[in-house]
Amino acid sequence: MGVEISKSLWWVVALFMVQVLQQIADGNQQVHCHFIFGDSLADNGNNNFLDTLAKVNYSPYGIDYLYGPTGRFTNGRATIDVIAELLGFENFIPSFATAYGTDILFGVNYASGSAGIRNETGSSERIPLEKPLENHQTTILRLADILGTKWYYNTSQECTLEQFAQPLIQQCAQQLMSLHDYGARKIALFGLGLIGCTPNAVEKYGTNGSICVEIMEEASLLFNKKLKSVVEELNSNLTDAKFIYINYYAVGADSSLLDFKDTSSGCCTVASDGQCIANQIPCKNRTEYAFWDSFHPTEAVNKFIAESSYSALEPSDAYPFDIHNLVLLNL
Ligand SMILES: *[C@@H]1O[C@H](CO)[C@@H](O)[C@H](O)[C@H]1NC(C)=O
Ligand SMILES: *[C@@H]1O[C@H](CO)[C@@H](O)[C@H](O)[C@H]1NC(C)=O
Ligand SMILES: *[C@@H]1O[C@H](CO)[C@@H](O)[C@H](O)[C@H]1NC(C)=O
Ligand SMILES: *[C@@H]1O[C@H](CO)[C@@H](O)[C@H](O)[C@H]1NC(C)=O
Ligand SMILES: *[C@@H]1O[C@H](CO)[C@@H](O)[C@H](O)[C@H]1NC(C)=O
Repeated sequence: MGVEISKSLWWVVALFMVQVLQQIADGNQQVHCHFIFGDSLADNGNNNFLDTLAKVNYSPYGIDYLYGPTGRFTNGRATIDVIAELLGFENFIPSFATAYGTDILFGVNYASGSAGIRNETGSSERIPLEKPLENHQTTILRLADILGTKWYYNTSQECTLEQFAQPLIQQCAQQLMSLHDYGARKIALFGLGLIGCTPNAVEKYGTNGSICVEIMEEASLLFNKKLKSVVEELNSNLTDAKFIYINYYAVGADSSLLDFKDTSSGCCTVASDGQCIANQIPCKNRTEYAFWDSFHPTEAVNKFIAESSYSALEPSDAYPFDIHNLVLLNL
């Protein structure tokens, strides 16, 4: 039971993306290169080569994607793909697992469907120092591990939300500073989304009369509040760089503007782990659904989120400003 719980939770809670936009050079794109760190929301195939259940390089994933199932945890483009398009990149940013040669000139996507702030148990994947950016592979979020086993599921109250979130955010701030040490100057941080509203969360934990699982929503908002103040602090401490905070929670909630027919169930037929069952025919019209499987949004939501983080619809969507203004910034 414990295993199953933590396996599904890390998907639910580790909704975290960091994007690093390096300064302009040539080409049509607005930034020279674009590095992506995150979890399954941003993974574009890094997990395909790992010995993990958290990989989705099979049909019907990618049913609406040009190259079919690539390891993206959705039906079409992921949010990071649409952001790359908005930034003017001709190609999507390659996954770390497949990038070689000159591919990396435009950036690399390190996101991995099991990533968290903390190191995974058994940090056997040590990164050679000659490739400093690879170090960040080991620093991406591991929220779920912790939330799943120590906090949400085990309600023995040994750790309050506040006690849990504080060290996590401190570790996160440190990782952002080392990203800066490696030369990152424009950094967009995506907070947590509506983790208590996924079909999986609602089905597994119950909502007690609300629409979403409230304790998970509280955790998400608490983490985001702290993340936003880290952004504030980093901006005053590191004056040669700019960090922005994308209010992924608010932007995700606003995607209801798309007027989906179904916001409570996934489009594909899922197995007990919440992932699509291989080779089953999914819902016909993906744009009517907010969720693709039990955890991840459809391309329609991803596109909305990408567009709103690039050009904020509301002042509260991005702090102190959106990605578009970040890339325009003269540092
Ligand atoms: C995480 O893993 C990296 C690489 O193995 C190591 O250098 C670092 O000290 C670890 N951090 C923690 C908090 O265990
Ligand atoms: C909660 O965690 C404690 C300490 O790790 C453990 O002894 C206990 O069995 C756990 N409770 C449940 C319900 O898993
Ligand atoms: C459900 O609501 C009741 C009354 O507010 C509360 O005591 C209980 O802890 C809630 N349960 C969950 C799982 O949130
Ligand atoms: C910013 O600098 C202050 C003063 O040196 C320090 O206490 C704080 O931890 C720094 N904040 C971050 C997020 O690095
Ligand atoms: C799919 O759903 C959208 C939104 O409800 C609608 O505009 C569109 O016409 C539908 N497409 C098809 C092929 O039914």
